[in-house]
Amino acid sequence: MTDQTVNYLIIVGPQGAGKGTQAAAVAPELSLEHVATGDLFRTILKSESELGDEVRKYYDQGALVPDELTIRVLFAHIERLQEEKPSLSGVLLDGFPRNAAQAASLDEALAERGESISAVVLIDVPRDELMKRLTGRLVCSSCGATFHREFNAPSKEGICDKCGGELFQRSDDTPEAVEKRLGIYYEQTEPILDHYREQGVLVTIDGNREIDTVAQDILLSLKERVSN
Ligand code: AP5
Ligand code: MG
Repeated sequence: MTDQTVNYLIIVGPQGAGKGTQAAAVAPELSLEHVATGDLFRTILKSESELGDEVRKYYDQGALVPDELTIRVLFAHIERLQEEKPSLSGVLLDGFPRNAAQAASLDEALAERGESISAVVLIDVPRDELMKRLTGRLVCSSCGATFHREFNAPSKEGICDKCGGELFQRSDDTPEAVEKRLGIYYEQTEPILDHYREQGVLVTIDGNREIDTVAQDILLSLKERVSN
């Protein structure tokens, strides 16, 4: 651990709102590391380990991985990042926290470090848009870049524009798992936003527009909140 001040930001919104898409676009512009718990779990799933078998029990069905395991995986990753990059200036959390217990763990961990959350960006998209976005999503098996069959199609079918990797459909993008994930969002994740609203750090962005327009809007809102 170093004494460097790290900016902690959160990108939140329902499944399919565009958290991963937008975080990938804005994090480099703001010198932030994009840290997505879903990506950490997808890497673990690929490892074919006991931990992978444990995560799969929840992931494929669209259920939350238990809090204790999620928190352990996330903080181990952040500590590794801080060791590898002592000049790390900030982290953009995507997919965490997702419930009151995770929000409390994050507050506690940041308080121990003398840090706080600089901003929470809520990407707001109406529920009826989300199923179309998720069932048409394609993800690169090599670099993790996200595309959509219709709304953000790769130039060559099945091939990633960024690295040439093969595109696949996520195992939790079935209509059944999507319904379950959305249910969890509205029941457990949306209510924690009040906590950030009260702290005056919540910024709401209309996510029901073109990808680039949404990204510009997020950048404008965050630039003044990130100290470099
Ligand atoms: P995770 O990977 O975090 O998935 P998620 O929360 O379900 O969110 P998504 O990744 O589905 O949505 P997104 O907002 O990132 O959308 P995207 O940018 O891809 O989590 C997966 C699983 O891991 C969980 O279900 C759970 O099991 C486990 N997990 C993760 N975190 C956990 C935690 N904290 N605790 C416990 N368990 C945890 O965009 C979607 C699609 O829309 C793409 O195709 C994209 O091209 C398209 N699109 C994006 N923006 C636009 C736009 N403006 N217009 C049109 N199309 C768009
Ligand atoms: Mg995502």
